[in-house]
Amino acid sequence: MIDIHCHLLPGVDDGPKEIEQSLVMIAQGVKDGISAIVATPHILGPLDDDEFPELCQQKLEELRKRLDEQGVNLRLFLGSEIFFQFSLASICRRRLGTLAGNGKYPLIEFPLNSLPHRFEEELFRLQLSGFMPIIAHPERNMMLARDVKKLFELSRRGILFQVNARSLTGGHRKAAKKVAERLVAEGAAQFVASDAHNSVSRPLTLSQARRAVEKLVGAETAEELFYLNPQRAIQGENISSLYY
Ligand SMILES: [Fe+2]
Repeated sequence: MIDIHCHLLPGVDDGPKEIEQSLVMIAQGVKDGISAIVATPHILGPLDDDEFPELCQQKLEELRKRLDEQGVNLRLFLGSEIFFQFSLASICRRRLGTLAGNGKYPLIEFPLNSLPHRFEEELFRLQLSGFMPIIAHPERNMMLARDVKKLFELSRRGILFQVNARSLTGGHRKAAKKVAERLVAEGAAQFVASDAHNSVSRPLTLSQARRAVEKLVGAETAEELFYLNPQRAIQGENISSLYY
């Protein structure tokens, strides 16, 4: 499996503080059957300079070195989770702006309890700039969870959705589980990811969610959501939404 949403780099956001904790998370993920991870630190502001991307790159290199020394077989990439703001395209063009730096797939999150005014226009502007936005855990946004029709409308316009593994296994609110299952069952979700922050309360595991998805839609679709689409996102290849 490939995890495209994970707070793994030490000391850069609300993920692990020390590299040792990152290594524990990785060991947990490898044991769970994860073979590649995109580290996606939070980008909360406009990313005015190169300081943060450079810090993240440096942490990633340190982690890769430690994995090499330990003989851990894991592919590690860099991306980000961008908190919704206007002028997204200028952030997406920067280092860290897209998953694995391929210039195609930015991962974007909304606030949990509200939706920014005219957010759709900003997403479509992003598409016109050549990006394929992936919305992180839409099922966790209270407004979108109440308005599933809106999610399908967005999907029909080519917006991609990443559902959290924990939503499917009941770790988030009940409403989130329902919406996540519906997105998966009706083909509007393209990815399931861990959104891991540590090894205990928000762990780096996907296999339990994979079993839930297999039960819901079968093994073939599960392979798309947990491996094939994440691999396409890393390589910058096309991914089908309800629109495409
Ligand atoms: Fe996240």
